[in-house]
Amino acid sequence: MIPQSFIDDLLNRLDVVDVVGRAVTLKKAGANYQACCPFHQEKTPSFTVSPVKQFYHCFGCGAHGNGIDFVMAWRGLSFVQAINELAHMAGMVVPKDESQPVQRQPDQLTPVLEEASRFYRLSLKGSKRAIDYLKTRGLTGLTAARFGLGYAPAGWRSLETALKNYEADEVVDSGLVIVSETGRRYDRFRDRIMFPIVGFRGRIVGFGGRVLDTGEPKYMNSPETRLFEKGKELYGLAQAQKAIRIKGRVLVVEGYMDVVMLHQYGVDYAVATLGTATTEAHAKSLMRLADEIVFSFDGDSAGRRAAWKALNSCLKVIQDGKKVKFLFLPEGDDPDSYVRGHGKQAFERLVEDAQSLAKFLLEHLASGSDLQTEEGQARLIKEAYPLIHQMPAPAYRLVLRKSLAQRVGLSLEELDEFSGKVDQKPVFSGVVKRGGSRLARVAPSLLRHLIKLVFMQPSLALNLRNEAFTGKGADLLQHMIEMVVSSQDISSIELQQELLHSEFSEITSIFLSEISELNGKIDVQQEFMDAVGKWRERQRKRRVDELLKNELTPAGKEELRGLLAH
Ligand code: UTP
Ligand code: MN
Repeated sequence: MIPQSFIDDLLNRLDVVDVVGRAVTLKKAGANYQACCPFHQEKTPSFTVSPVKQFYHCFGCGAHGNGIDFVMAWRGLSFVQAINELAHMAGMVVPKDESQPVQRQPDQLTPVLEEASRFYRLSLKGSKRAIDYLKTRGLTGLTAARFGLGYAPAGWRSLETALKNYEADEVVDSGLVIVSETGRRYDRFRDRIMFPIVGFRGRIVGFGGRVLDTGEPKYMNSPETRLFEKGKELYGLAQAQKAIRIKGRVLVVEGYMDVVMLHQYGVDYAVATLGTATTEAHAKSLMRLADEIVFSFDGDSAGRRAAWKALNSCLKVIQDGKKVKFLFLPEGDDPDSYVRGHGKQAFERLVEDAQSLAKFLLEHLASGSDLQTEEGQARLIKEAYPLIHQMPAPAYRLVLRKSLAQRVGLSLEELDEFSGKVDQKPVFSGVVKRGGSRLARVAPSLLRHLIKLVFMQPSLALNLRNEAFTGKGADLLQHMIEMVVSSQDISSIELQQELLHSEFSEITSIFLSEISELNGKIDVQQEFMDAVGKWRERQRKRRVDELLKNELTPAGKEELRGLLAH
């Protein structure tokens, strides 16, 4: 049994909003958060998370509970597994009760890796050469111990004495031992400083090994095994987890030594990717770990390339409310050398001043284009727009569209209008060159957009029942809303067919040709929510203006107060 006091403590430390927020994109709605319920199919959000009461509740299907309930239901875990999972997230250790059977059977490879690690650590203690090497790099014994650093001796089969059975399959499967063409086994890591890589589950999954002097390759890493997937793991996470959680920030660097040295200097929320580019899986984990993610790369061109790759991985999984930043060190420095040369404060100043994702994205794309020319502007829009559109975060998309618009000197409406065309036509043949007649020819219309979205997903119209639409296309939209409301569950095709055979046939066919270009390219629901939000805001402003035109009646005053309180 896990003591109740521990469970209470765990629930106190964890915010249900964080726990749920790892699985579901939540939107703030007043004091609570909202989302479409993850436990049943729905199109309008009826799932609520209360930070005050620390529970979630779905008005649609009745799903209800606290953070532990959520993890159990969402991940399909048992109570004990859920507690373990959450404790890990909170940086807490579940008190052991000897009468409990072991929860998760460790993999057969784990004991092999752990025995080897013990042996490497011992060997480090016995090797003056290895110790001296670490000392020349400024590493303290404390740091080496914290990261479990070791030394793999120079012999071909040093591990033979360390492992129970050097000939076992697991020893090869673990990646520690290589079988030669003649069938003879030998150690993969020889005469190297060893960095154990601790996986998400808190167990060693592989190693990185560095040569002591110059030699190739400088670093050797365990091959991928059933425990070790390079594109998923983050070096240093076990040591950094708690600080990341407390500080709400995670710093991502490139090298083993960078992580280790940053920790030694108190920058203890640093982790590294393992000699690979930052993958989408990495980005997802990072978003789950903290609200602020700072990537630190070398200032050279390789560093810029790596940063760009990281940015692309982040775009696909970024959520509103997450801050992603890019820190470029002066050329010739890496985090290890910088923190040693300038200290923690100076390094953290760079972290504070790191470039925002928006800035890096636009600057990277703009470099090489002359934004004084329309061609340059058009190229920037053409390249930036699809990237921005990938982001599953509406507020972020808006911010980026705004900064993009600003950079090219267009209004947001003009930009959107133009980008819609950019998607379809080669830039230079189309809009821009036409006598510089500026980019927006047709008045961009929210209404048009709403109509398209309702064509794509008719049930969305149910959200529009209480709106009064005016302007071009309003009668079509009103008609569509009525049809959707009166005919339960009308499909997109049915709605299109109906309208093609109605008084609206001509305008419908125009819309349909435009929709075919959008299909699969946009997140219909998200776009719809954005558009409705904009529409309501516009209506609100209009009404405010209207009220202010004449002397206010008491009722008018009341209404105005209500409108402005928004
Ligand atoms: P760096 O070459 O920047 O090395 O590689 P470093 O981390 O600064 O190491 P020191 O300071 O020279 O000791 C960054 C990372 O790229 C991977 C490793 O994960 C390394 O930490 N790498 C590098 C390899 O996997 N193999 C290599 O041969 C070199
Ligand atoms: Mn280095």
